Amino acid sequence: MLVPSAPLLKKARSKGYAVPAFNINNLEVLKSVMDAAIKMKSPVIVQTSEGAIEYAGMEYLIAMVRVAAKAKIPVVLHVDHGKNLQTIKQAIDAGYTSVMYDGSSLPNKKNIENTKKVVAWAHKKGVSVEAEIGVLAGIEDFVSVEERDAKLTDPKQAADFAKKTGCDSLAVAIGTSHGAYKFKGETHLDIERLKQIAKLVKIPIVLHGASGVLEDVKALAECYGAKIGEARGVLDADIKQAIKNGVAKINIDTDLRLAFTAGIREAVSDMPKVIDPRKLLEPANLLMREVAMRKMEVFGSKGKA
Ligand code: G3H
Ligand code: 13P
Ligand code: ZN
Repeated sequence: MLVPSAPLLKKARSKGYAVPAFNINNLEVLKSVMDAAIKMKSPVIVQTSEGAIEYAGMEYLIAMVRVAAKAKIPVVLHVDHGKNLQTIKQAIDAGYTSVMYDGSSLPNKKNIENTKKVVAWAHKKGVSVEAEIGVLAGIEDFVSVEERDAKLTDPKQAADFAKKTGCDSLAVAIGTSHGAYKFKGETHLDIERLKQIAKLVKIPIVLHGASGVLEDVKALAECYGAKIGEARGVLDADIKQAIKNGVAKINIDTDLRLAFTAGIREAVSDMPKVIDPRKLLEPANLLMREVAMRKMEVFGSKGKA
């Protein structure tokens, strides 16, 4: 069933697991994620970025997810990194059950002002709101400790932000970054900072940029061009620490993109004579499903639907 994210995430934080949030932009990704969630009896958040909305069209995305949500597990349809207030308003009115307003690149005062506006629109319709404070960049990207501290989320500012805006969940910057370039090395999370945030911020905390090549899924390591066990982003052990310290929603996009691409490459090279897209996409779907299921195990959401 289609549900808002707030109650799901509140429950997850109180019980010590995290709900996986996967970026989707087409039927293949959505079906793979749904197959995984149904198999694992896991609640699931399917989220669409502004780019995904532009690519597939909001109406197509909503229609597909409404069908997917006929499954007997909780499904959230969420806007990821909404920066355009009009798009967010449109999504709330059209049937999304959760939205993220990302004002993290704005001055704090403006971020608070815009987030409050979104909260007012959304809550009137029973839609949940995620907001963001802090700049998402890998710890290794900062040249000095001072620079790092200025960009990562400040615990007191985060608490003040949550109180003033009334948002339902809060994305924080503790050292992760978006995309595949983080796989050049291990990403170490600032767990001490997260502990301080969690002491002051009682709403569910959201971790973005959480992909980490699964070193034992051969095709993924190969897709990145690394040996198995060599290419790693966010480590499972760090994810588990983050969940222990208040993280209740974890965003994954890049790992699914890698799985999709690895599956397509394998199919095109193994089946040079096949021209049926359904057959060519099958390995990609299976690999995406495998990745999504692994995430549900690591996040502890298996069996929590
Ligand atoms: O955090 C960003 C997501 O990975 C979405 O990426 O804007 O290319 O759809 P996208
Ligand atoms: P990854 O690029 O690490 O998958 O992060 C995705 C994300 O945070 C989407 O909002
Ligand atoms: Zn993100």
